[in-house]
Amino acid sequence: MTRIVVLISGHGSNLQALIDAQQRAELGGGQIVAVISNRAEAYGLERARNANIPTEHLSHRDFAEREDFDAALMARIDAYMPDLVVLAGFMRILTPAFVRHFVGKMVNIHPSLLPKYPGLHTHARALEAGDTEHGATVHFVTENVDEGPIILQSRIPVLANDTADTLQQRVHQIEHQLYPRAVRMICEQNTP
Ligand code: GRF
Repeated sequence: MTRIVVLISGHGSNLQALIDAQQRAELGGGQIVAVISNRAEAYGLERARNANIPTEHLSHRDFAEREDFDAALMARIDAYMPDLVVLAGFMRILTPAFVRHFVGKMVNIHPSLLPKYPGLHTHARALEAGDTEHGATVHFVTENVDEGPIILQSRIPVLANDTADTLQQRVHQIEHQLYPRAVRMICEQNTP
């Protein structure tokens, strides 16, 4: 079994896709042992509670320094002894010490075809560049934001009448297939 801790900040639809995959036994033996959010109102916490997954809330606002928050978060995560840490809409820039601590076992999903468009506003940037395709990427987390080794990508065509909103919706949909597939792959490799 691969022990998974998921970090979220918001809606948690990717978390839901992972929970659904686990419940269908399609996560390669992966088991989500905790969901941690830096925002108390994150709807993803509700999703986790509905699936009987332990949840925690740790607010970055309670810490003066980024380093202190990350150290506290690291300790919370470590308490669950995870084999894999999954960032699913976790809206925080991570400190180098945090990233180094989990290097090789922390993954993220990003709404662009990396290395294109790290950072924010990926859909508007793809449109503005006149790209004919767009998509999402699952990658290992390294010290530079959105730059780690790519695990899997999924593509969609950009249509003539697409807006940033329609692109965002379609990318979000493919993320829900892509993330469980990537996590499953990792869990399968993790299992002797
Ligand atoms: C996704 O678009 C993901 O690519 C990005 O944050 C968003 C999270 O959405 N990193 P949700 O909270 O999983 O619905």
